[in-house]
Amino acid sequence: MSTQPDRVLIFDTTLRDGEQSPGATMNVDEKLAVARQLARLRVDIIEAGFPFASPGDFEAVQRIAAEVGTPEGPVICGLARATRPDIEAAARSLAPAAKGRIHTFIATSDIHLRYKLKKSRDEVLAITQEMVALAKSFVEDVEFSPEDAGRSQPEFLYQVLEAAIAAGATTVNIPDTVGYLTPREFGHLIHGIRENVPNIDQAVISVHGHNDLGLAVANFLAAVENGARQLECTVNGIGERAGNAALEELVMALHVRRQYYNPFLGRPAESEAPLTQINTQEIYKSSRLVSNLTGMLVQPNKAIVGANAFAHESGIHQDGVLKNRLTYEIMDAQLIGLNQNQIVLGKLSGRNAFRSRLKELGFELSEQELNRAFLRFKEIADKKKEISDRDLEAIVNDETLQV
Ligand code: KIV
Ligand code: ZN
Repeated sequence: MSTQPDRVLIFDTTLRDGEQSPGATMNVDEKLAVARQLARLRVDIIEAGFPFASPGDFEAVQRIAAEVGTPEGPVICGLARATRPDIEAAARSLAPAAKGRIHTFIATSDIHLRYKLKKSRDEVLAITQEMVALAKSFVEDVEFSPEDAGRSQPEFLYQVLEAAIAAGATTVNIPDTVGYLTPREFGHLIHGIRENVPNIDQAVISVHGHNDLGLAVANFLAAVENGARQLECTVNGIGERAGNAALEELVMALHVRRQYYNPFLGRPAESEAPLTQINTQEIYKSSRLVSNLTGMLVQPNKAIVGANAFAHESGIHQDGVLKNRLTYEIMDAQLIGLNQNQIVLGKLSGRNAFRSRLKELGFELSEQELNRAFLRFKEIADKKKEISDRDLEAIVNDETLQV
């Protein structure tokens, strides 16, 4: 019987892989605040940390397990290398969670085996079997990752995955650890796994990827087209080096383009049922919280949550959006919890946008007043990058406008 879920599960690793960004460390209270927000966002699984890594991480996972890991809340997951001490620490820290998951991993690429692990393929296969079985002795829900799967020899990868599932893994996660694959290659990799791992239907296929070439989100979407049903991602895409796949981009791509993705999940194309259980209204708040607590700024042109993501500056675009927002917007800003799109007034803005903002600020000008104010606005906009509401008030109140 297939265990594939009928929607896409969102596995958030902001608190584990995301926290591995240089300079992004959070203390236990800050991690708890993020975990609570992730629960409001309704992620399916929170990877709360790497309990063996430090006493602080152990405590964070344990407290998140106790406070956020309620029966109605998300699954709480702890990372563990494929070693006994790591797995035992993860099991202890997860004990208070209603639904706990141990995520254990070992590298499978030749380059990692040779230089990092100094182990043969047979040894890695044996460790996988033994450590997945150990994790299974503590929790029912076990995830296994063959690290650097993207550069692993496919036949060996299939063998390791088959062994992990036979030993009790309920999720097999396929990491593109170094962000090397292209979307087509990632799609083929997932397809190959479905075709060649005989017991694959007994586990959920998950994907994990880094953004070294800026392809993580595109790779995941290709993976969904080929049967992946769990996406490992972080808020704002923070993480090692160039970061992880960004949660907000994945969720909104699956939402905005649901009619395109529906058939890959066996649904009628026109179905309006959401593909994830994420409460998109909490996306913007989650982004701000993670940015404030980690000190990692969000670039203004970042998709979905950047300051400019719903801002229109050019006159042509502003005019179009004011007539019908669908001319230049593929989603409503309110969907991610923002109040409205932002019309940014600057030197390229047109009269229509200018008049509309003044109206919002409570000014109703005659045509003559508007003409004079607009001329003054253009003069100022030539010298300033953006015109604030205060500038507008000053323009309108300027005596020179009085006729
Ligand atoms: O990037 C990676 O391979 C990881 C694993 C531990 C899943 O973070
Ligand atoms: Zn990673």
